Amino acid sequence: MSEPHNAERTCWNCPAAIFRGNVDFRACGQSQEEIKAQLGDEGQIMIECSRRPELGHYEPTITFEECPQWELGDYGYQLKNMRVMILGMDGYLGWTLALKLARQGCEVSGIDNYLRRDSVMEKGAHSIIPIPKMTDRLHAATEKFGVHINFRRMDLRDRQKLAEFIDEVKPEAIVHYAEVPSAPYSMVDMDHAIYTQDNNTLGTLGLLWIMKDIVPESSLIKLGTMGEYGAPLTGRPLFEGMFPADAVLKWKDREWSMGGEITPRDPVSFYHVSKVQDTYNIYEACKYWWLRSYDIMQGVIYGVHTDELAHDDTLRSRFDIDEWFGTVINRFIAQAIAGIPLTIYGAGEQIKGFIALDDAMECMVRLISSPPEPGQYEVVNQVSGLYKLRDIAETVAKVGNEKYGLDVEIQRLENPRVETEEHPFEAVSSKLPNEFGFEQTVPLEKEVDRMFQVLTQPEMKTRIKEKEHTIMPKTTWSGEKKDPEVIERYKPGTKDSDGFEAVLHSEE
Ligand SMILES: NC(=O)c1ccc[n+]([C@@H]2O[C@H](COP(=O)([O-])OP(=O)(O)OC[C@H]3O[C@@H](n4cnc5c(N)ncnc54)[C@H](O)[C@@H]3O)[C@@H](O)[C@H]2O)c1
Repeated sequence: MSEPHNAERTCWNCPAAIFRGNVDFRACGQSQEEIKAQLGDEGQIMIECSRRPELGHYEPTITFEECPQWELGDYGYQLKNMRVMILGMDGYLGWTLALKLARQGCEVSGIDNYLRRDSVMEKGAHSIIPIPKMTDRLHAATEKFGVHINFRRMDLRDRQKLAEFIDEVKPEAIVHYAEVPSAPYSMVDMDHAIYTQDNNTLGTLGLLWIMKDIVPESSLIKLGTMGEYGAPLTGRPLFEGMFPADAVLKWKDREWSMGGEITPRDPVSFYHVSKVQDTYNIYEACKYWWLRSYDIMQGVIYGVHTDELAHDDTLRSRFDIDEWFGTVINRFIAQAIAGIPLTIYGAGEQIKGFIALDDAMECMVRLISSPPEPGQYEVVNQVSGLYKLRDIAETVAKVGNEKYGLDVEIQRLENPRVETEEHPFEAVSSKLPNEFGFEQTVPLEKEVDRMFQVLTQPEMKTRIKEKEHTIMPKTTWSGEKKDPEVIERYKPGTKDSDGFEAVLHSEE
């Protein structure tokens, strides 16, 4: 068996380490090596351990493998009873992660203001998989798994309350999901666009200041999106946030190194712009205050399955299909079941990054248990496959037709978005497999099948039927509200996809 990915990490990464010594820990953003070089023979980096005060002052060199506070678990070494706070815990990902972490032995706390429930209601839709209210969810978690999750109803932007809760819990990692997650929602009208950017950008900015003052040693695991990058028409690879060391810019017979610079972003909606703004704010906070963060450029997540969610119906996470909140694969499954041809926008040659829910959750646990160093801002591209929309439609139709006896068709609609419909796409996702030990376990077809299993149950079918009118896109990027024209309708397997081939670099 290969060595756990984080065995060699040290106190330097551990949130229990309180830094002491003659280093100015502010305005830093420097590596351990640089600081040591600065100190020369003059001094040392010293720490105290908040979990093991008996050690007194010492150099931060104890590895996770050596430290009794870190135990070998399913995903490498994990800090015993690690305190993890999830912001946005009532959401699709937040609830799923809360259950998983609690079962891994973490002390899980979280907040939510139920914005997602309210906005889905505003759209006139509902979660196809019924979800209990939070108090019932928490009881179910205790009853089924014997875990106690500490939840407060709270708006992230209620900074006083949030600071008090963070001070009370002293989380060792903070997972930040609490944002409006939808591009179409942010394009509905002026109010929705402003709400999205206010909620997301100011929520995150306030959180950074609170972390600086109360838990600077805690890591921030923040959800951005692959959509921050856009799809460069030059075919330039989508690196993990920064240009690699050997990247160069050539101009007028001159050449400059680009290594370590933030790569350009080309967001594709006002929602995506809010994520780009977050990126810069987090990057700066790590630089100014030595906060530490993994900023995850998240591919589209699909699916219904983790061991915890499948354990009992009362533990399931939400599943939306409406035009604002349904993500593409989830919507295709609902359309297949409702007998609506799967809706591809425009050419359908758009390529995007995807990952199944179960795999995405495993990535999160691995990142949480291998914290960044103080001052480290690290971008991780979290995708396991790149697909064209029309190819995904083919896969969903194939599984639906062959295994569930459906008669699924596909339709191309006039594109409500402003986006390039045919483009090269070369993405790098190398850190998760090489530095964090992640291996994909859920291929697309497997999760599509699981989704059909859950969503073809009679109650779910009825719930899809009740809300099928919310599926078709009405929000356009031009601001016009209209039903899109159908460009063509066809049977799966009758069209060849052409154009560009996606390339995913997962090698080191
Ligand atoms: N699901 C995906 O495919 C995907 C892909 C890329 C990025 N992301 C990002 O991941 C995060 C979580 O996504 P999700 O799919 O679970 O969405 P979600 O809407 O289900 O979850 C977000 C939760 O945060 C809560 N929330 C929002 N604003 C809040 C505030 N101000 N205070 C307190 N709670 C607040 C919502 O009520 C909701 O329960 C989002 O930031 C989203 O942008 C998701």
